[in-house]
Amino acid sequence: MADNIIIFDTTLRDGEQSPGAGLDINEKVQIARQLTLLNVDVIEAGFPVSSPGDFESVRRIAQEIRGVSVAGLARAVEKDVDSAAKALEKAERPRIHVFLATSEIHRKYKLLKAKEEIINLAVKGVKHALKYVSDVEFSTEDASRTELDFLIQVVEAVIDAGAKTVNIPDTVGYAIPDQYASIIRGLKENVKNIHKAVISVHCHNDLGLAVANSLAAVKAGAQQVECTINGIGERAGNAALEEIVMSIKTRHDFYHCSTRVVTKELIATSRLVSALTGLRVQRNKAIVGENAFAHQSGVHQDGILKERTTYEIVKPEDVGLQKTKLVLGKLSGRHAFKERIKELGYELSEKEFERAFEEFKHIADKKKEIFDEDIEAIIGIEKMEIPGIFQLESLSITCGPNAVPTAGVRLRLQDDRVVDNVTTGDGPIDALFKAIDLSTGISGKLQDYNIHAVTSGKDAMGEVDLNIDVDGKIIRGRAVSTDIIEASAKAYLNAINKVAASKLNYTLPH
Ligand code: KIV
Ligand code: ZN
Repeated sequence: MADNIIIFDTTLRDGEQSPGAGLDINEKVQIARQLTLLNVDVIEAGFPVSSPGDFESVRRIAQEIRGVSVAGLARAVEKDVDSAAKALEKAERPRIHVFLATSEIHRKYKLLKAKEEIINLAVKGVKHALKYVSDVEFSTEDASRTELDFLIQVVEAVIDAGAKTVNIPDTVGYAIPDQYASIIRGLKENVKNIHKAVISVHCHNDLGLAVANSLAAVKAGAQQVECTINGIGERAGNAALEEIVMSIKTRHDFYHCSTRVVTKELIATSRLVSALTGLRVQRNKAIVGENAFAHQSGVHQDGILKERTTYEIVKPEDVGLQKTKLVLGKLSGRHAFKERIKELGYELSEKEFERAFEEFKHIADKKKEIFDEDIEAIIGIEKMEIPGIFQLESLSITCGPNAVPTAGVRLRLQDDRVVDNVTTGDGPIDALFKAIDLSTGISGKLQDYNIHAVTSGKDAMGEVDLNIDVDGKIIRGRAVSTDIIEASAKAYLNAINKVAASKLNYTLPH
């Protein structure tokens, strides 16, 4: 078994394929920086040919990130490989990741190609990528449903062609640990040139087995694991990086290998990915869930107080959890706030910090204690804020059993003018958003609207996360406040501000 398992993070590619997880370029770069602190070996930054936005984020990450391999995905066709190569031009350690499906189902229904054609295309794709970079990975998409003898032939051919890593994906999450491990063993025993390449695994979670399958493959000799932070990804997601890494670390007695991941960065990374993608982590999620280190039963608490290892197999500090929380409130100053932000793993520019501090003071005035989750919500919003075009000055709402829902808003414009509008609607939120539409001249159709209490208690901050449709484009807006009506108005304005900022010929209302 390999001593070191290569951790290939695909949060920004497969993870971003999660329904509802759109990240913009700056957010992707921010996550890539955090993945560098986490010390993953490879960051798959995107699928450059798939969209100009994906191309640009791979290009930016390749240019800015050092000390880590940066991979770009490509189908086994020239234009994809060319695009990946171009996006990776400035990378310190570029990797082109070429893929082609090999299973009978995909050959017959999706690709309409015979086995020989698949081998030829795979070899051609690898050779074409090698014209640009020396580090080429090849993925046999839907490998776990591919006939083993054919899989052996494809793997041998792509290694002969020069692939340094061969990835054996369980694309549809169909594999079972014992069976998946036997595929890896089958390749190790039957592919003549297998020693020339790293065997990688990439498991989806459709049956909830992605981590179990990946670990069974490691035990069978796989040397690279592809995974995502919080297990996000297409459909039910991918294998969760934090679970893979902590299983290998905690059960070193069983796996006899390790990773280079700096585990103390796991919580900060998980929270950053959750805040920026809007995909919440379930409370009882292993390693990074809110309850992962919470002990409720009296018997357990007694055991923990006597000897931690009675009920805890992972030390919270090892994954970056602070045991003691410094409680911040309205008397806290800039210094304490800055320190807490640093401890939580965030980096803010001077301007972002000042705005976040202002928001913190505003919230602290209304709320007795400010918890880490509140601070993260403030920072998450701060990072998304498009400042300056419209600011909410004030709002008023009238509603109730016998009243016509009515909202009034006052917005301050970039040029310091104020606009007031009052209007009615089907409900208070409808009236509020209509009043904002009237004031900005931009009309959004509400698609999703979620309110979430950031912490517990009646004075908890409410986070509003919504999507609006403007001219067929879906735009996300988020905001927090102790007042959910205010949070709703700010979240809607957050989305409207993004629209206004992106419109070349947008003119302020008169
Ligand atoms: O699931 C899959 O097969 C993939 C490949 C592109 C590696 O994501
Ligand atoms: Zn995948």
